[in-house]
Amino acid sequence: MTTPATPPPVIVARGVSKKFLTHTSKATQLKERFVKGRGGATVEFWALRDVDVVVGEGETVGLIGPNGAGKSTLLKVLAGILRPTAGEVEVHGRIASLLELGAGFNGELSGRENVYLNAALLGLARREVDRLFPAILEFSEQADRIDDPVKHYSSGEYVKLAFSIAVHVDPDVLLVDEVLAVGDEAFARKCLAKIEEFQQAGKTILFVTHSLDLVTSLCTRGIVVDRGRVQYDGDPAFAVGTLRKILGTDRPVGAPEPVAQIGGHVVHAAVASATPGGPRSGRFSAGDTLHLRLDIEALPGPTVHAGDVKVVFMGAGDIPVFSLRTPEGSSLPPRAGRYCVDFAVEVPRLNGAFIVGVQVDEPGTGLPITARRFDSAIWVETGELPGLLDVPATVEIHSAEAVS
Ligand SMILES: Nc1ncnc2c1ncn2[C@@H]1O[C@H](COP(=O)(O)OP(=O)(O)OP(=O)(O)O)[C@@H](O)[C@H]1O
Ligand SMILES: [Mg+2]
Repeated sequence: MTTPATPPPVIVARGVSKKFLTHTSKATQLKERFVKGRGGATVEFWALRDVDVVVGEGETVGLIGPNGAGKSTLLKVLAGILRPTAGEVEVHGRIASLLELGAGFNGELSGRENVYLNAALLGLARREVDRLFPAILEFSEQADRIDDPVKHYSSGEYVKLAFSIAVHVDPDVLLVDEVLAVGDEAFARKCLAKIEEFQQAGKTILFVTHSLDLVTSLCTRGIVVDRGRVQYDGDPAFAVGTLRKILGTDRPVGAPEPVAQIGGHVVHAAVASATPGGPRSGRFSAGDTLHLRLDIEALPGPTVHAGDVKVVFMGAGDIPVFSLRTPEGSSLPPRAGRYCVDFAVEVPRLNGAFIVGVQVDEPGTGLPITARRFDSAIWVETGELPGLLDVPATVEIHSAEAVS
């Protein structure tokens, strides 16, 4: 059976959590748990919690969130520089990453030596680097400094060289941490042009930025991370709106706090199965009952909203095919806690692979509080012919004389 082509996943993070241990002489309330240690406490801090992200080939994803949200940690885990405490990460193809200042370069070595070292780590042979070196040097604008140790570079000079390496090694996946802000405006423009060139070449890009306009102008998708969790994953404009609500920058300066501040909801999981709450199942036929169990948490905060839950089944290209929502009067209650929401639906006459998007809206206003997409496909095998819908039709065959 033919199915609509969904872009193959290039970056897959499933259930990724990252715990840091820090040693402190004083307990801080912000940190989450204490383990007794000699001469102070070792503090466990979860920088990432249960992060599921699947990025398909050719997507440009903006990863945004407040300071300390876990964005850089997530990029480092995806780049293989940090090992996740729990969960799995897969990246297909050659990744070039441009991470925070300090990551990836050896300060004692010269710029030239770092170019060779970095390119070698990305799997390039010395001869290939010799060939690419002039282009790397020219783009980086560091010809005068290239034989100085990079520890003496300014932040901007450092980033220029690092970005130049990343984009010249012909990567399939480009991971970029907030660096465009460090270079001067002329260089930022050059970088953006390069990123657009990559987009057009169908490469996969995941970049962290605090420039929210870039997310709406450049990205095909926005992911909001806050306190180590994915809070929103979907439309870039909604992602920016969600972050502005988290940051409180959706109101003019000096405006009073709104009475109804949007609280934090997190959609942890969406599991499709053949029986209520049963094991995950990915294959259905028209007429089967599909049970979808959602795991949603309303985090404690100054205000916790009630939430209407909406589920969208999407086909290739994220086209919504059909939706479900909690009926009026059965929203999530306005109390912090973890909720299970069970939908049951008779599968329509569909054909192909579908992914599920879950959105929690504020009842009344319909404003999205959070959204999340789950890329593990649900397959519906109904018709024998290709197409999203299985449409019954009648057909008659006449002889040519009868038609005229
Ligand atoms: N090696 C480490 N040891 C201990 N804590 C760490 C370590 N690295 C990061 N953290 C903590 O993890 C949290 C997430 O950090 P991360 O650098 O991923 O944030 P970020 O979203 O990139 O923030 P920013 O926007 O400021 O760059 C922060 O609270 C940070 O202090
Ligand atoms: Mg960071």
